[in-house]
Amino acid sequence: MEFTTDIFSLFDKKWALLTAGSMEKFNSMTVSWGGLGTLWGKSVATVYVRTSRYTHEFLDREDWFTLSFFPENCRDRLLLLGTKSGRDMDKMGGSGLEALPCGKGVAYREAEATLVCRKLFMQPLDPARIPSDIREKLYAHDAPHDLYIGEVTELLR
Ligand SMILES: Cc1cc2nc3c(=O)[nH]c(=O)nc-3n(C[C@H](O)[C@H](O)[C@H](O)COP(=O)(O)O)c2cc1C
Repeated sequence: MEFTTDIFSLFDKKWALLTAGSMEKFNSMTVSWGGLGTLWGKSVATVYVRTSRYTHEFLDREDWFTLSFFPENCRDRLLLLGTKSGRDMDKMGGSGLEALPCGKGVAYREAEATLVCRKLFMQPLDPARIPSDIREKLYAHDAPHDLYIGEVTELLR
């Protein structure tokens, strides 16, 4: 499996769509915080999801998730999926993206690349261990982030 990227801009600048669930019921949200690396001898992807996100419920319930990366012309759709919640509306139906079944999860026809991930680990980020300047800026008024690590089992292009 070969995935060549500038890891420091992949999430930060390009963004990704994090999706969990099955074709019958799934939810996606935009993420720009995450990483790719190695853990326990496996290729892994890490994402950070606030507990308030609807997608968080799916991630907790499901054993798999996908991370999809899109061309620039899909940015408005990623912005929509990153500003509306599936809890309040049928945002997946109106996303303008075509969902596809992929092995254990859901991918998108428009994606340039999709990482299929088996959930390996989840842990809340302990506020006490976060530097106070960051804690005050990012967590004074918003829900905490939980960290999810998935084994990248497949790369779809
Ligand atoms: C560019 C961008 C990046 C984002 N990155 C994250 C992230 O890494 N983690 C997170 O919890 N929320 C992130 N969000 C916010 C969620 O995508 C947003 O709250 C979304 O509406 C949640 O949808 P849901 O409630 O249907 O899960 C981001 C939003 C945007 C626009």
